[in-house]
Amino acid sequence: MRFSPASFDNAFKQEEGEGGSFGRELLAGLKSRPRSISPKFFYDAAGSRLFDAICELPEYYPTRTELSILAERAGEIAQQIGPDAEIIEFGAGSLRKVRLLLDALRKPRRFVPIDISGDHLAQAAHALRTDYPGLDVQPLVADYTRPFSLPPKAEGSGMRVGFFPGSTLGNFSPAEALSFLQSAAAVLRGGGLLLGVDLVKDPARLHAAYNDAQGITARFNLNLLARANAELGADFNLANFAHTAFYNAPHQRIEMHLVSRTAQTVNLLGESLHFAEAETIHTENSHKFTVEGLRTLAARAGFGIGPVWTDPERVFSVHWLPAAQ
Ligand code: TRP
Repeated sequence: MRFSPASFDNAFKQEEGEGGSFGRELLAGLKSRPRSISPKFFYDAAGSRLFDAICELPEYYPTRTELSILAERAGEIAQQIGPDAEIIEFGAGSLRKVRLLLDALRKPRRFVPIDISGDHLAQAAHALRTDYPGLDVQPLVADYTRPFSLPPKAEGSGMRVGFFPGSTLGNFSPAEALSFLQSAAAVLRGGGLLLGVDLVKDPARLHAAYNDAQGITARFNLNLLARANAELGADFNLANFAHTAFYNAPHQRIEMHLVSRTAQTVNLLGESLHFAEAETIHTENSHKFTVEGLRTLAARAGFGIGPVWTDPERVFSVHWLPAAQ
């Protein structure tokens, strides 16, 4: 998954001119208190490459654990879904994941990856069409963090199934997660949602996953400032900011921040921003769930409760959530 949700105020990133949204939102976030930068800005070309590298890190267990759950349980998942399904993937990230699903389903009919990045989508769609000649691949360029609708189901098709892997739900605030699930329950009526979320666990293991020894996550986080320099002519000195990620137990979430190593002034779009030593910029949350907590949230959003699949260590979970007719 490359896509990261946030409180977007633009429906389509490509409607914005050169750096328009980035500059405006970056400045507003850095001037607010506590200072923050929206995680949606992580994913330029360099950020997307770094994110792919994070998914391969020995400390970053979620990607490989979710893949192993999907591979092992694909048959059971396919049984819930039935033949002729239409799969809607929120965020056109890891094709590896949806392939495991498509390979197990009987005659999957249509695949609709939704992403705000059109380029990314076109590539993803092309690769899938080649490998699944019978599949109707219909990419949709849209921001699924805002209310959305879908084209009608094809004649004679089976269930409409949402696929939301990678624990991206955890990057929403609790209120955003609830409203996303409510919209999903509405568009998936009569079908269901296959949802992958990371579980609450030993904070030391969480800490390691977001503070890898090779420093890739640090580079990913600092890439936000590199982007501001390259695209907006800002003068962030990257050596003067440090990556930090820690588990906030009361909020059940990993928080990522950039910490100012020293008192400093940064120039951005004609404004001087003063940072005190140790002041932080909050860049992302990654909420962790219990199986019960996730089910309670899903039920509040209008979903029924289906089976849940986890790995033997119970570090990650994949939920089947039926959407009422
Ligand atoms: N959603 C995943 C998670 O929260 C992946 C992810 C998003 C991520 N942003 C990240 C992982 C930043 C590491 C660092 O874990």
